[in-house]
Amino acid sequence: MTILDGKKCSNDIKNEIKDEVDKMKAKGEKVPHLAAVLVGNDGASLTYVGSKVRACERVGFKSTLVKLSSNISELELLEKIEELNQDDDIDGFIVQLPLPPQIDTQKVLMQVDPQKDVDGFHPTNFGKMALDMTTFIPATPFGILELLERYNVDTKGKHTVVIGRSHIVGRPMSILMGRKGWPGNSTVTLTHSHTKNITQIISQADIVISALGIPNFLKAEMIRDDAVVIDVGITRVPDENSKKGYIITGDVDYENVSKKASFITPVPGGVGPMTIAMLLKNTLLAREMHRL
Ligand code: GUN
Repeated sequence: MTILDGKKCSNDIKNEIKDEVDKMKAKGEKVPHLAAVLVGNDGASLTYVGSKVRACERVGFKSTLVKLSSNISELELLEKIEELNQDDDIDGFIVQLPLPPQIDTQKVLMQVDPQKDVDGFHPTNFGKMALDMTTFIPATPFGILELLERYNVDTKGKHTVVIGRSHIVGRPMSILMGRKGWPGNSTVTLTHSHTKNITQIISQADIVISALGIPNFLKAEMIRDDAVVIDVGITRVPDENSKKGYIITGDVDYENVSKKASFITPVPGGVGPMTIAMLLKNTLLAREMHRL
């Protein structure tokens, strides 16, 4: 069994990005600038955005955090996004999800200039991705592809079962694993809450990508011997013994599944760190696009 070490891989990627930024600085060029919009005070979102800003510092990017009140109107948020679209110094920006209920998320994501949409959530970029065109690929699926590539995991002709059809992970992942090329060329089944016989489908998978958000959902007896297991779950489970009062728990019963799998991502230290590294990669790509 091989652990797909997202922490190590993401560090390697950040070092590669830092080298690129150092070259830009040496040539007197502008460094990439990422902005993050955070609406409200959701604890998990604050943590994620904080990690994104720290990652920018680590690689030498400029970063801007735009903090907005949870009771902001949809129109005010759309206007803020338009400001970021027009700001020539900003290469890319993200709007941290989820947004408060008074705001139509799809409307907000459509307001983002596709050329600055480093999350890859705009329909233009999502469509380009589905058509194999060069574009921003959503960071979590992009990070999973990068892990599979760096560990030389064979995906050609394999049966990949994706669990969960979210716009951020499951849906794009199912498209990417079925695309031509590597990592890809898989036969994909996208499963969700209405899937019948889900355990039977999972038992036929060579590669299982779980993006469900149910702690310890995937048990050893559900997978095939030597399956590749990617755990995208990051649920906060209350835990009195931990300093923060909770522990981050994946969708996979790691202790038992790891004994049967050929490759597996741990939680934490698997997919999570890769997501941030790939956001930086997309921001570097945005800078390069805007320079042309
Ligand atoms: N919320 C959970 N994951 C993500 C992500 O990748 N990007 C943004 N903007 N919000 C998220």
